[in-house]
Amino acid sequence: MQHFRIDGPCRLNGDIEVSGSKNASLPIMAAAILAPGKSILKKVPNLVDISLCGDLLEELGCKVTRGPLNEMIIDASVIDNPVGAYETVSKLRASICILGPLLARCGKVRVSLPGGCAIGFRPIDLHVRGLRALGADISMEYGDVVAEAPNGLVGTEIFLGGSFGSSVLGTANVLMAATLAKGTTVIESAACEPEIVDLANFLNKMGAKISGIGSPCLTIEGVKELHPVGHEVIPDRIEAGTFMAAAAITRGELHINNCNLSHMLAVVDKLRQIGVTVEPVENGCVVSHEGPIRAVNITTQPHPGFPTDLQAQFMALLCLADGNSIIVEKVFPNRFMHVAELSRMSANVTKEGSIVIVSGQGKLVAAPVMASDLRASATLVLAGMVAEGTTIVQRIYHIDRGYEKLEVKLNAVGANIIRERA
Ligand code: UD1
Repeated sequence: MQHFRIDGPCRLNGDIEVSGSKNASLPIMAAAILAPGKSILKKVPNLVDISLCGDLLEELGCKVTRGPLNEMIIDASVIDNPVGAYETVSKLRASICILGPLLARCGKVRVSLPGGCAIGFRPIDLHVRGLRALGADISMEYGDVVAEAPNGLVGTEIFLGGSFGSSVLGTANVLMAATLAKGTTVIESAACEPEIVDLANFLNKMGAKISGIGSPCLTIEGVKELHPVGHEVIPDRIEAGTFMAAAAITRGELHINNCNLSHMLAVVDKLRQIGVTVEPVENGCVVSHEGPIRAVNITTQPHPGFPTDLQAQFMALLCLADGNSIIVEKVFPNRFMHVAELSRMSANVTKEGSIVIVSGQGKLVAAPVMASDLRASATLVLAGMVAEGTTIVQRIYHIDRGYEKLEVKLNAVGANIIRERA
């Protein structure tokens, strides 16, 4: 198993490039199922989760090939096995987003129910509710979701809000299924995340008729068929936000390229409250920080609120603040596995339910720590870069699921991170 050896502290300085968005790529790859023929995607990051999704599409009957510059070609001419098997789905929770497009294309689908994960129980009741409203017959068999719509799906009005607000992949599933339904579908309380906007834009290029894109009310006029197209995936706003936190925590200066600030207004606002300078430049921004880090309160929310996928990274930053910060997790209330690891690095953090109080004390101290999930691992890398001494981050396979060449990118701007095999 591999780990990172991080020698700190360091000060990051220079140009850093954000990859294409993982969370936009995954549902867009699934959407390619809807159009027989070859869809060509650009800027699809080279990540373990993306390869797993490619494997899943191949199991369905697609041919998936990689081209230069992170191009991906998905030939969905033939789909002859509409089954998401447990072996694949259990490794990639986002596999669930083949449910909607397979149902629309094949009239039936069997997808293993994804299990729990480190950030908590992740139900799919909203996906099921939405697809049932479109006329699908859905049952559970031996741990699999089995959905059938032999006579096709029929558009309707659907309220897709849950106890924690909208669902990103739930919206993706119902949206994709509705593109080929008979008549008009209205999804109320749809997710507004930029990744859903990118998916909807991709679907419209394919011939879908979706309006209200980016709002909580999506209207989809069903069409008879979709055709394959080319599409460039949006920049990864979570990777960009991680680099912003990295510039701030090391009191450095990063010119972050391929970053769309309009997708990150809540994050930029929080950084400015902390005292960090964020200057928009063409195709990205320059983020710099010197002096004290001000304590702030953060509440995670669905977009356009502060993203849960950056909660952990900002917690590391606030460990260095000059006072107490309160972090409230409203999307995944149990997403705090990193709290115990940050404590090992001398952070003063207290957890009470879905709230964490971070008593900033100006420094972190190196320690051996263990990554528990994707974003928590990035947090430990941020902490390691600012801590005095050598931090060892175990289980970095989590990082490889979602950050493309993280240590290579950070080392190029001044970090000292070595990937080692135990
Ligand atoms: C996606 C992202 C993930 C991000 C999350 C929230 C991908 C591949 N993953 O995950 O990185 O952290 O959005 O921004 O894009 N819920 C229900 N019922 C459902 C579905 C969800 O109650 O049927 C709850 C979840 O438990 C959670 C909340 O709704 O509390 C939001 O989850 P959701 O938006 O669905 O997350 P994902 O789409 O799985």
